[in-house]
Amino acid sequence: MSTASATALLDGIRAFLTPAQLRTDPDSRLLYGRDWTHQHTPAPLAVALPTTVAQVQRLVQYANDQRLALVPSGGRTGLSGAAVAAQGELVVSFERMNRILDFDPIDRSVTCEPGVITETLQHYAREQGLFYPIDFAARGSSHIGGNIATNAGGIKVIRYGLTRDWVSGLKVVTGKGELLDLNKGLIKNASGYDLRHLFIGSEGTLGLIVEATLRLTSPPGPSSVMVLGVPELDGVMAIFDAFRNRLTLTAFEFFSAKALRHVLNKGLQRPFETATPYYVLVEIEHTSAATVDTALAVFEQCSEQGWLADGVISQSETQAQELWALRENITESIAQYQPYKNDIAVRISRVPAFLRAIDALLAREYPDFEVIWFGHIGDGNLHISVLKPAALDQAGFLARCRQVNEQLFSTIRQYGGSISAEHGVGLIKQPYLHYSRDEAEIAYLRAIKAVFDPNGILNPGKIFA
Ligand code: LAC
Ligand code: ZN
Repeated sequence: MSTASATALLDGIRAFLTPAQLRTDPDSRLLYGRDWTHQHTPAPLAVALPTTVAQVQRLVQYANDQRLALVPSGGRTGLSGAAVAAQGELVVSFERMNRILDFDPIDRSVTCEPGVITETLQHYAREQGLFYPIDFAARGSSHIGGNIATNAGGIKVIRYGLTRDWVSGLKVVTGKGELLDLNKGLIKNASGYDLRHLFIGSEGTLGLIVEATLRLTSPPGPSSVMVLGVPELDGVMAIFDAFRNRLTLTAFEFFSAKALRHVLNKGLQRPFETATPYYVLVEIEHTSAATVDTALAVFEQCSEQGWLADGVISQSETQAQELWALRENITESIAQYQPYKNDIAVRISRVPAFLRAIDALLAREYPDFEVIWFGHIGDGNLHISVLKPAALDQAGFLARCRQVNEQLFSTIRQYGGSISAEHGVGLIKQPYLHYSRDEAEIAYLRAIKAVFDPNGILNPGKIFA
C-alpha cells in the first residue's frame, strides 16, 4: 500500500476536504477505527467525513493514486470486524451523508443517503403510513449504508426477508471511482446481470454506497408475543412447525436458560416460574379475530406433546415489549464478558440434527467455558457466544476459541451450512471462508473484486486476505 508519509497523504486530502471533514485526533481514530468487535487495535491514518458524492469520488480517486486503503464506516455496530481500520487506512465515515432525499407514495419507496440511521428510516416510513420491516437490536445506531453493505437480517427475517429484499435502487462509487446507478427503483428489470445484488453484502470491498432506494410496505396489524419454556432441544423446531402451520409468524427466536440468566441479572422479570433449559419467543400477527384462540390451541397441542413446559402470551403492547427485551437484551447483558461470537446457519430442515451435533461438540470442547445460545432459529440461524473466563487472558482465550472453530466449522460444512448467517465475514471470519465456499467459488469472488477494485484499495483484508 501507500509509501507516502502520513503528513503528505493528509495534505493531499486537505486539498478537497474542509478541516472539519478530516479528523486526525487520537480519540476519533480510536472511535472510528473499530466496530463492536474488540479483537484489533484501531490504527487508522485519519477519518474522512464526506458530505457529497463528488467528495466520495475524489477520495476514491486519491486512494487509487496513492494506493491508500479506505475503510467505509457506518454505525460500526458490526460483529465481524468489517469496519475495523487497524493498518493505517483512511476511514470514510458516512455519518454526514444522512439525509432522506425523496419519498414516493406511488412507488412506496424512499431514497436516502447511506448515513441515515435504521430507526430514523423506520420512523420516517411510519410517518408516511408505511413500514420498513428490517429490524434488529442495533436499530438505534446502525446505518442504512452498513445494513446494505452487510445485507443485515435481524428479528423479522422469517416474515420479511433480508435487507437485500428491500433495496430497489443503489448508487455506488466503485473502487475505480465510477458512479453506478443500479436498478433505479424498478420492481421488474430483466436486462441482464443485476449488479445491485453484488454490492449488497459485499462489506465495502467492491464499492462505496452513496445512495439507496428502499421499498416500504403496509404496516402490520396488531400482534401477540409468546415466550415458551422448552425442556428438550428437539422441541424447538417441533414447536416452530406447529405454530407456523396454523399462524402467520413475524418472529421465531430462541435462547437458552444461560442467556436468560444474564438478562434477568440486569433486572428483567422472569417470563414465568417454570425453569427450562431452552426458551422460544414467537411473535404472531393477528390475521383474524380467531388468532389468539388458535395460538392458545397450538400451545395446548405442543404442551400435550411434551414439547413445552410453560408459557406466557402478551396481554398488552407493554408486555410484548417486556417479553422481547428478554431476547433483545442478551447481547448487551453478556458484553462485559468479552464474548467470542459465532453466527452460523443451516437450512431449517437440518436444524434439529445440527443443534444436537453442535450441543455435543460444545459440551466436549468447552467444558470449562460458559456458552450462551440464542438466535433466529426460525431462519436456521444460531448465535453462539463463548464467555471469556476472568482468569484467562484475551490472547489465550482467542487461541482456544479459534481451535474449536475448526471443528465447529467442519460440522457446519458437513451440514451444508454457513460460517456467517448475518454478521458477515469481515476480518474475523475471513480465515474460515473456505468452510462455506469452495475454492472455485472463492476464485470467482476474487475475480469480481479485481474488476471493481483493481488496486485493492477498498476494505482490504475483509472477506478474504
Ligand atoms: C442479535 C444480534 C447479535 O441477534 O445479531 O441479537
Ligand atoms: Zn442476530
